[in-house]
Amino acid sequence: MTIAIGEARERVDAIAKVTGAATYSAEHQLDDVAFAVLVLSTVARGRIARIDDADARAVPGTLAVITHRNAPVLNGEITGRPGLDKHLLLLADDRIQFDRQPVAIVVAADLETAREAAALVRVEYASEPPIASVDDPRASWFFPKQTAHMEPPEIVRGDAASARAAAAVVVSATYTTPLENHNPIEPHASIAAWDGDRLTIYDATQGVFEERRKIAGVFGLPEDDVRIISPYVGGAFGNKGSVWYHQVFAAAAARIVDRPVKLVLDRDQMFAITGHRPHTRQTITFGADGDGTVTSFEHDVLATTSMFDVFTESAGEYTAMAYAFPNVIIRHRLVRTNFGTPTFMRAPGEATGTYALETALDELAEAVGIDPIALRLRNYAESDPNKEKPFSTKYLRECYARGAERFGWGARSRAPRSMRDGRELIGYGMAGGAYPAQIFDAAASVSMETDGRVTVRSGTQEIGQGTYTAIEQIAASELAIDPARVRLELGDTRYPRAMNSGGSTTIASVGSAVALACRDLARQLGGRSRPERRLSATATFTTPDDREGYSCYSFAAQFAEVGVDPDLRTVRVRRMFGVFDVGRVINARLAHSQFVGAMTMGIGMALFERTIVDPRTARIMNANLADYLLPTNADIGQIDAEALGIRDDIVNPIGTKPVGEIGICGAAAAVANAVYHATGRRIRDLPIGPRVLG
Ligand code: MOS
Repeated sequence: MTIAIGEARERVDAIAKVTGAATYSAEHQLDDVAFAVLVLSTVARGRIARIDDADARAVPGTLAVITHRNAPVLNGEITGRPGLDKHLLLLADDRIQFDRQPVAIVVAADLETAREAAALVRVEYASEPPIASVDDPRASWFFPKQTAHMEPPEIVRGDAASARAAAAVVVSATYTTPLENHNPIEPHASIAAWDGDRLTIYDATQGVFEERRKIAGVFGLPEDDVRIISPYVGGAFGNKGSVWYHQVFAAAAARIVDRPVKLVLDRDQMFAITGHRPHTRQTITFGADGDGTVTSFEHDVLATTSMFDVFTESAGEYTAMAYAFPNVIIRHRLVRTNFGTPTFMRAPGEATGTYALETALDELAEAVGIDPIALRLRNYAESDPNKEKPFSTKYLRECYARGAERFGWGARSRAPRSMRDGRELIGYGMAGGAYPAQIFDAAASVSMETDGRVTVRSGTQEIGQGTYTAIEQIAASELAIDPARVRLELGDTRYPRAMNSGGSTTIASVGSAVALACRDLARQLGGRSRPERRLSATATFTTPDDREGYSCYSFAAQFAEVGVDPDLRTVRVRRMFGVFDVGRVINARLAHSQFVGAMTMGIGMALFERTIVDPRTARIMNANLADYLLPTNADIGQIDAEALGIRDDIVNPIGTKPVGEIGICGAAAAVANAVYHATGRRIRDLPIGPRVLG
């Protein structure tokens, strides 16, 4: 039985995952493994005045206590791409620069002993007043050299100030988004094992090859002497896309105790030392004609980074290309705070940027008295105004139309606070979104045995999105064979090189490499169903030259209905519907799951998620899943999504555009706009929470 592209095939690894047969990083069994536990600082800024590890060392079974006084010299500098490669503070000195900075590694023969000994490491600090947010009066801003996507931090078209001065209508507002944490279900976990000078790390990572490069650099090893293995990752959303402290410390500890070492982070540790979405403050100013045609657009982005590294949330990249605004000035600025370094978090920049712009457009629609969809159509970008290139494909207009029809947008009354269901105030909101269709270089190999079994290998990762299922589907479809004959092996630096599973690039990049390798294999087969001897083919896929003339994006139209209880001040999302232009869909079930998952994250961003920081101490106050609120099933109402499914022949050989991150783009704005429509109150600081009418 063969399979078609698009077919809603069930996950091939579903049974393995739910029965525990799929091996996650902490579950690899190595003989003689020791356990490491990290001790993190309890101040966000200052110095270690005194560290006393005598009691910890005295616990029977303790193998090592490593602090800045006895740590080996490790190179924590950035040697790869800034933003992706993090500068790490690897127990080099007594200086504390962020909340929960690692100050000691305790290693013991079993986990309980390691925990007990870690609790007995006594650290006294000479603390200094920390900087906790963009609002801190002692904070000063600076311009980064580039955004996290390596784009210029300032974008200028025409003359926005003069156009604003001449505009009939000016609308300006400031929006803030808080620190957010990724919170995948699987904690970060590493097992490091040395064999002489060769190192193997079993890890939960979005990029085995990036990790190999960084680890080799930290320890001064040739890359070939480092192997990273990561067959399954239990969710990541960006925070497993960089090498952080635990991988390095597991490897350093393993060398010191001369045994394999396992290091699993606790949830509260993950809040501080594996990245977060930075705090942003964005001011948007429109100048417009009376009919809503925008003549001037100004977007100022202020975001946090750490004291010792630069990560630039690129919130203005979406706003630069999304609409046909003629006069534009966009600036990204940063403030240094005493938190760990921020990182990519699902649609990094696009999620925050669409929130601000798509909410500001709702405010403009209200100011000029036209329908929010009509306002967007009035400013529709037929080509990319930033890169001055045509889009490879853009069916956003069709997304608006389909979404409006299926959601029932026509039933919305124009005036805020004009719709009710019993006691509840009802609001409808919508927003648009876009996410770039990048390609990361990827290679894959395919082989066929004489019995017809096919093995596909690539050093990419399964991070929960369905790589095994979708790539096997591509291979089976290209070879026109039963997918049961195809076996995919991934997550190992011994396989052909692929880049990070990030930026929603895996299907486009690895899928194209697999498709090209399969096409080569099919040529070798020459129409036979079985080869006489084993056949194999390898292909590498990079951004095709003929794409250069185009701007390539996925697009979204998001619709939300909220109900607000005027007495209890609670907001509930009653319905949410998204329509997505993502090119050709490889597997309808997986795509739907990605859309709904990311839209749910958008609901979390709008209403719940916030890493709470004490402004006096710069310490995180809710580093657990009881106090850090995530949407649950009871919070998301009816949620559904649809893909247009129109193939893009320019973007790559398999015609797909990004599916993973587009689902959060515009989602928070659609919910926030619905809250405004329900209540007549514009809350510009996320999360909205139960204070809508307060
Ligand atoms: Mo994801 S934020 O592209 O790793």
